[in-house]
Parts: sequence; C-alpha cells; structure tokens
Amino acid sequence: MIVASQAVAQAVPSSHIDPQSWWRDAVIYQIYPRSFADTNGDGVGDIPGVISKLDYLQWLGVDAIWLTPLYPSPNHDFGYDVSDYYSINPQFGTMHDFERLVDEAHRRGIRIVMDIVPNHTSVDHAWFQDSRSSRTAAHRDWYVWADPAPDGGPPNNWVDHTGRPAWEWDDHTKQYYLHNFLTSQPDLNWWNPQVRAEFDRILRFWYDRGVDGFRIDAAQAIIKDQLLRDNPPIDGTDPPDARARGQKYVYNINRPELHEVLRQFRAVADEYDPPRMLYGETSVPTVPELASFYGRDDEIHIGLNMPYMLSDLNAGALQTVVDSTQAILPRDAWPSWTLSNTEVPRFPTRWAGNDDALSRVALLMHLTMRGTPFLYYGDEIAMPDVDVPPAMQRDEMAAPPVRDSRDPERTPMQWNHSPHGGFTSAPTAWLPVGDVAATNVADQQADHTSILNLTHDLIQVRRSSQDLRRGAQTTLPSPKDTWVFRRGKSTLVAINLGTADALIPATGTIAISSGRDRDGEAATGQLRLRPSEGVVVTT
Ligand code: NOJ
Repeated sequence: MIVASQAVAQAVPSSHIDPQSWWRDAVIYQIYPRSFADTNGDGVGDIPGVISKLDYLQWLGVDAIWLTPLYPSPNHDFGYDVSDYYSINPQFGTMHDFERLVDEAHRRGIRIVMDIVPNHTSVDHAWFQDSRSSRTAAHRDWYVWADPAPDGGPPNNWVDHTGRPAWEWDDHTKQYYLHNFLTSQPDLNWWNPQVRAEFDRILRFWYDRGVDGFRIDAAQAIIKDQLLRDNPPIDGTDPPDARARGQKYVYNINRPELHEVLRQFRAVADEYDPPRMLYGETSVPTVPELASFYGRDDEIHIGLNMPYMLSDLNAGALQTVVDSTQAILPRDAWPSWTLSNTEVPRFPTRWAGNDDALSRVALLMHLTMRGTPFLYYGDEIAMPDVDVPPAMQRDEMAAPPVRDSRDPERTPMQWNHSPHGGFTSAPTAWLPVGDVAATNVADQQADHTSILNLTHDLIQVRRSSQDLRRGAQTTLPSPKDTWVFRRGKSTLVAINLGTADALIPATGTIAISSGRDRDGEAATGQLRLRPSEGVVVTT
C-alpha cells in the first residue's frame, strides 16, 4: 500500500474491480434523488441532477450509486409507495433520462443500483385498485385480505411500523387488508405465484436496461405467516423499536418461506453475465438473523447490518459487532456497513455529536473494514441532521414516540454556500437546507485538509490496497477505548475513541491519518494516538 498522497496522484483506474463480484471491491453511495440536485427548479431533485453530479461522484471515487425508488408514486412514503414498477416518476424525469443516467454512469465506471419494493405497493397501483374493486377481481389475491375477527375487529393483533393496527377495513368488500407500513401501502401476497412471476418480470425489465443490481426494500418482511397468527407480546428482552410497538415481530417478518423468495430473486440476478447484485434491506436486530439472508450463497449478496448502524460510537461495542459479523456470516459471505441512511439520524449527529474529529475517525474506520462500505449522500462532508420546523415536516410515517420523523436526515445536499446550498433555484426546497456556510462540498473540495478530502483519500487508499479491499480483518489487543485491527498481510487500522492518549504497538508508515497531520509519519514499535484520532498504517 502507498501513502494517501501517492494514491490520489495516481487516479487509480477501476481495474481494482472484479466484474463478477464487483460489490466486494466497491464503495456504494446512496442517493435520495429528491434531495440530491434539482435541475428544473421545482425544489425537488431529479435524474438530470444526478447526471450533473456524476463527475463529482467519479472524483470522489465511488464505484456504484444506489438510488432510492425512482418509480411513479403518490409520495406518501416518497417513492416507497410505488404506483407503477415499469416507469419513472415524472417528477424525477423520463425513461430517456434514466437511460442516459445509466450510460453516463457506466462511462465513468460507476454502476447503478435501483431500489425494488416487493413488500407493498401504493394504494394507487392499478393492481390494488383492481384488488379492492371486488372479492372476485383478478388481482384480489395479490394482496393480503382477511375477514374480521369474531368480534368484528382486525383479523389479528399485528401492528404496523408506526405502532398502529396493521389492518385497514375496506367497507366496499367487507374485509381488512394488511399494511406493515402506512395504510396507503398495502402488503402484497407473496403466497401468490402470480405476484412472484410479476416481480421476476420487473427485475428483468430493469436489468435489461443496464441496471447492475437491486437494493431490496424491507427484505425481512416480504412474506407473512399464512395462518396470520398473533404476534407475541414483548418480554423485556426486546430491542427499542419492538418495545415501542409493544409486540415482537414474529409472524409478520422473517418467516422461513422468505428464503425461497430471495432464492428466486437471486436466480434472476444470476441469469445475467456478469451477475447482477442483490443488497437486502435486512432490518433484523441480530447478526445471526442477518446471516440467514445470505443462504448458501444463493440469496442476497450483501445485507444491511443493523447492529453496526445502531451501535454506539464506542470501541468495545463496534469491535464486538464487527468481529461477530465476520465470525457469524457464512464463510464465503461478504459483509456490508452502513454509516447513515434515510432511516436513522446521520452519523455525524448520531455518533459524533457533530464533532469534526470524531466524524473523521468514524469515516476512517468505516472505509477500512472488510466488507462493502456504504456512504449516504452528504456523509463525505459529514453533513449533520437538519432541524425541520413542524410546518415543513413531510414524513407521514413519523409517529413519536414509536417512530421519529426521518425528515432531518433527508434534507438537500449542501453543494456550496449559495442560497439553498446550490441544491435548487426554486424559492423553497422541498425540505429545508442546513447550514451551508458551515458544511458544503465546494468549500471542502478546495481545502485539502477537509473531511471531504479525507473521504476521497480514504477511498483512494482503499482502492489501491488489496489488503483493505479483500484482506481478512483481525482485532488485535489494544488499550481501553481503542480498537486496532489488522487487514490482510500488511495493513493496520487503529482508532482511539477515548479522551486520553493511547499507546498502540505498531511499526510502519502512516498511510493516512484522520486529522491529516500525520500522513507519512513513521511508527517504530509504538504509536501514540491522540483522543479522537485514527490512522491506517502500512507495516
Ligand atoms: C424501508 C425503507 O427504508 C423506508 O424508507 C420505507 O419507508 C419502508 N421500507 C417502506 O417501504
């Protein structure tokens, strides 16, 4: 491995990627298109906006972008309520814009990952409109309909993700329909082979247009208990979200039959050469549950690691979750790591109290582990959450205290310090823009010591290092509040999350340091790490 300044100068080509398993070599960047870049002045981001930023993303060094749903949607859940899986939301552009995005991204060596939402559709979807029209409609059985309980109430005790009953009464056909999320998001019935066949078609439709992979929304939820049995109550051992809802999700998520659905998704992905990639939104609280989604290398390729994302920024806690992931995942499976996304407060706010030094250490750790690192737009500049005043709140799923609003982590990208951060020319953006004077891409790009340049250089160091891309990860003994791990043959990563200096055994050269003032420094036997400092050492 070479030190950061050399790696950057070489502008490493995408030859670091193995096309057959590109996601293992990749850094994947999540774009929430509504908030990325607006080119038509309506205050909402669009596909031409993403295209206009591809040069930036290429410079940043990301290998793939995952775009949250681009399909037509009435936007009760901003795209996660799909009303047509075969076209593009006019608010974002046209199919032609999408095809241009695929071409332009591919020309720059950037792969495209789309979002697929198999658990539910929008109430506006033609399938549901037909389904609710009569009990004998062609699509009736495409959704989960059930008779009332003997007392006339909902068929069982399930509650949705907001903690409210998961069943909605349909007066026209006198049955309830199931919704694990909003009432405007009826759950599809994956026991129905027609639903399965339709999703095969949808996946092929987009793969045939050059899409390199899918992120599977709510992958844990797709199929439900066929008997619709009641969920058990919480018992004091439950994670916070279950405590807030008052019941364990047993019969409405993570059912054994889910795996045959995922195997079929994988079979379709494997029809292509190179195979297409599947990234599961595996919202399960434990690593063994996450591990089950990999199957025998015949289900997802990578899955969301909730225990990592929901961990504290604490050396012991992170080490435990990362090491147990490396140990528990099937031997040939590949982990992935998520720092921020549309569902949780952004990492600088959640983990670092918006502290610059801590955000740097978090990025250094995140981008040097074994497994695919995801960056959420804005992570690269340590963009914090934004306070959204009540009058501007948009998230219909917000239901405190069960569920916080997700608006603060979804605000527009801060490109520069002009009004609205260069995101839009409209008088108002769809969500308020944060403090662009304090945090923006342009200023950070011009400052070689900035967090953005740290992110960029960490990605370049990762690209240039077989150790960091594919090497094994082994934790070494280290003082309290520090975490030291070896990657591959000759790379060491050390972070100090404590408040005192710590002495780390190390011999070699610092390839990159979180504060950038120690790049190139030699370590001869020992390295003194300052509080909130991290280094990558070539040994
Ligand atoms: C999980 C997604 O991450 C979230 O944004 C969405 O609201 C739900 N699935 C429903 O699709």
